[in-house]
Amino acid sequence: MRKKIAVLWAGRLEQQPSDEAFAFQSSISVDQRLALDDIRGSRAHVAMLAKQGILDPADVATLDSELSRIAGELESGALIIDEDAEDIHSFIEGILTSRLGDVGKMVHAGRSRNDQVATDFRLYLKRVLPVLRLEISKTINALLDQAEKHTETIMPGYTHLQRAQPVTLAFHLVAWCAALERDMSRFHDAVERLDECPLGAGALAGSGLALDRNFTAEELNFRNPTLNAMDSVADRDFAVECASACALTQTHLSRFCEDIILWASAEFAFIDLDERWSTGSSIMPQKKNPDFAELIRGKTGRVNGNLMCLLTLLKGIPYAYDKDLQEDKEALFDSLDTVSQSLRMFRELVATATFNKDRMEGACRGGFLEATDVAEYLVKKGLPFRTAHEIAAAVVRDCLHAGQRQIIVCSLPELQSRCALFEPDIYEALTPAACVSARKLLGGTAPDEVKRQIAVLRGKN
Ligand code: ARG
Repeated sequence: MRKKIAVLWAGRLEQQPSDEAFAFQSSISVDQRLALDDIRGSRAHVAMLAKQGILDPADVATLDSELSRIAGELESGALIIDEDAEDIHSFIEGILTSRLGDVGKMVHAGRSRNDQVATDFRLYLKRVLPVLRLEISKTINALLDQAEKHTETIMPGYTHLQRAQPVTLAFHLVAWCAALERDMSRFHDAVERLDECPLGAGALAGSGLALDRNFTAEELNFRNPTLNAMDSVADRDFAVECASACALTQTHLSRFCEDIILWASAEFAFIDLDERWSTGSSIMPQKKNPDFAELIRGKTGRVNGNLMCLLTLLKGIPYAYDKDLQEDKEALFDSLDTVSQSLRMFRELVATATFNKDRMEGACRGGFLEATDVAEYLVKKGLPFRTAHEIAAAVVRDCLHAGQRQIIVCSLPELQSRCALFEPDIYEALTPAACVSARKLLGGTAPDEVKRQIAVLRGKN
């Protein structure tokens, strides 16, 4: 039988829910990670109550040192969080009251758990999102380390998963980094917008006590207090924005992993995953499977689901606070945890992989990846692009009829039978390396240009 819990609302209700029902509505298993943020919020709140003359400075000194002691005990493990408590806010207030008696009971003046939890959640996000951004940044750097080694490594670039034009491996890796760079900025934006302090909003309408919301906002390092008390306790836009940024980051990782899984197949054989980042099969002795990449791809389902969970949670709830909102944290915490873990796994997987340069470059031959370059050659000689495209297509067809897989093996008279503008210099344009180095425009795949792109990203990470 559960011991009778000292709930914060015991004064109103004589009966308590059954054990199972109480556990159903408890959130402590999820929100205990807000413990230190909660204590920080309470310390700012009581300091403000003292400044405003609402609490006696001596009592506030007692409250503050006890709160600080509780924080220390939680960190050292001396104080164990009671999993039977209703939530982390009740737990901490309960400890305070059990240790300080009436003085402990003063902490909640002018406050509700509604503004308290909104404040704690934002404090937590302001603390962990920079860490997540660092994980992304480290991942970008790991990709750039590989990119630097492979600015001359030629591979096919794909559209429709059909070989399209030669690119470099560095170029492909930098494409991934560009997506991660946008993820970084999305988390940055999220922090910018959530950097407002809900404390003082009370249950929904503010407080009749003379609270100084500017003081607590400043004390907690928020840019400013929130504008409207009702919005402050009803709003979870910040959670949706963070969940959305997580979903997109994880979706990016999933796409990168899809490339890696393809590259690791015997059919591609572009990449060799380190044995530590592969797994075997319980039955097929020959297998070396890209399980880690698959799992990162698989976890995208959860992270995208968490975003849907939050949007669905919010869509029907009336203003202002409803207990439904308690479900917000589990979804977002799971997304944040999954994305950080996936980033760490992904970057080790990439850092330890080796690339099969010969296979990659070999795959650029035989698929007419140089056909666009033939058309561009003719454009440089003055032909309209559409005509040049038709001629290059005719050359491809000629090759196929002759059983040839590369334009470079055509003789000059054969080429000239399609267009008199072909001259011997056409052969210089047809190797994969020439196709790559021709694309030296801004954003292109030519080695020097990709080195510039790498330098831009290094400057930011
Ligand atoms: N555990 C609650 C949550 O996470 C705290 C707020 C409870 N407020 C209330 N009025 N029951 O949302």
